[in-house]
Amino acid sequence: MKTYLVTGGAGFIGSNFIHYMLKKYSDIKIINYDKLTYAGNLENLKSISKNPNYIFIQGDICNRKKLQQLFQKYDIDYVINFAAESHVDRSIRDPEVFVKTNVLGTVALLDTAKNAWIVQNGFKQGKKYLQVSTDEVYGSLGSEGYFTEKTPLDSHSPYSSSKASADLMVKAYFDTYKMPVNITRCSNNYGPYQFLEKLIPLVINNCLNKMHIPVYGDGLNIRDWLYVEDHCKAIDMVIHSGPCGEVYNIGGHNERTNIQIVKTIISYIHDNVDSSVGERLIKYVEDRKGHDRRYGIDPTKIKDKLGWYPETKFEDGIVKTIKWYLGNKDWMNNVTSGDYKKYYEKMYKDK
Ligand code: NAD
Ligand code: DAU
Repeated sequence: MKTYLVTGGAGFIGSNFIHYMLKKYSDIKIINYDKLTYAGNLENLKSISKNPNYIFIQGDICNRKKLQQLFQKYDIDYVINFAAESHVDRSIRDPEVFVKTNVLGTVALLDTAKNAWIVQNGFKQGKKYLQVSTDEVYGSLGSEGYFTEKTPLDSHSPYSSSKASADLMVKAYFDTYKMPVNITRCSNNYGPYQFLEKLIPLVINNCLNKMHIPVYGDGLNIRDWLYVEDHCKAIDMVIHSGPCGEVYNIGGHNERTNIQIVKTIISYIHDNVDSSVGERLIKYVEDRKGHDRRYGIDPTKIKDKLGWYPETKFEDGIVKTIKWYLGNKDWMNNVTSGDYKKYYEKMYKDK
């Protein structure tokens, strides 16, 4: 029975990953280690909280002592590091916590795993550390071309620079100690359990509450959207089949401008939920500082080498996602009754 240490498992992608893995494998143990910041929500895992193969431990990836105790208590085979401060807008206002968690936390986790796994002639068999990174480390594209694994790192925001720094530390542990690691760099995810501060759930929530939808700048920035389950599938494949030291880009060639995303959601809600919701809710607001123009992933390597492919078409995934939020209003109310309301008022008050 393999034991997975999933950090940040109470967040958006981490919780989807835990659901995905426990559904797929009955012979694994998952330890979810999460600090439960504003973005961590145990509601996301309510349906599996009593599964005997699942354990939750509240903790910070910067806390080496707690991490060491974890590695002493359990024979951990795989570490999948989702834990991060993940929101670009927050990083522009308060960069320091991004360096603490995303850089120093990653190093604490890497180092603890290394110390637990190292033996005289290398590392114990079958161990692996996977760093969940992002396409944002590559910077911004013009209207043509794609990010490949060979594209130089050229991050711009405090968030993406903290993720790029973490990637370089993971690389250093492979180059220096030959630690068994992989890095995955995925494009924008969407799906159930995404915190409401991110574009897609924010638009759904604002439509349902008839609030303005803030569109940054001219609304023509492009993101490359992937349904979250396809990201989870890719991570599972990289853990089991990716040769150590390799980096994999993950994306499904689903580029959309932000305004296209906004209009798609408005139109679905107008047609299926409330005909009074319409494009007049759109409000063009001041642009994000240093706003990356376009992301576009070239996923050729993971497709050719590991046989990964995305299963959910954007047209289906976006409807599934909107329906999930509509069917989980308690989950949304739970989020909006917490700090989110204060964050939203502060963030958008001058816009
Ligand atoms: P999220 O903000 O929804 O969740 C982050 C989780 O990490 C939360 O549960 C939070 O409580 C936990 N956490 C934060 N600081 C911690 C700490 N110091 N110690 C332990 N736990 C901590 O983020 P997400 O969108 O699920 O992203 C997960 C990972 O995937 C991140 O590393 C992010 O950079 C990466 N990523 C995200 C996307 C995307 O579109 N959301 C795309 C590519 C990569
Ligand atoms: O590309 C992967 C990255 O995608 C991940 O690494 C990040 O963790 C994740 O947050 C996401 O970053 P983005 O900045 O692309 O996502 P966000 O949902 O914040 O914004 C998507 C686009 O929408 C971006 O161009 C900014 C714009 N936007 C966002 C918000 C919240 C708006 O126009 N209005 C908004 O209110």
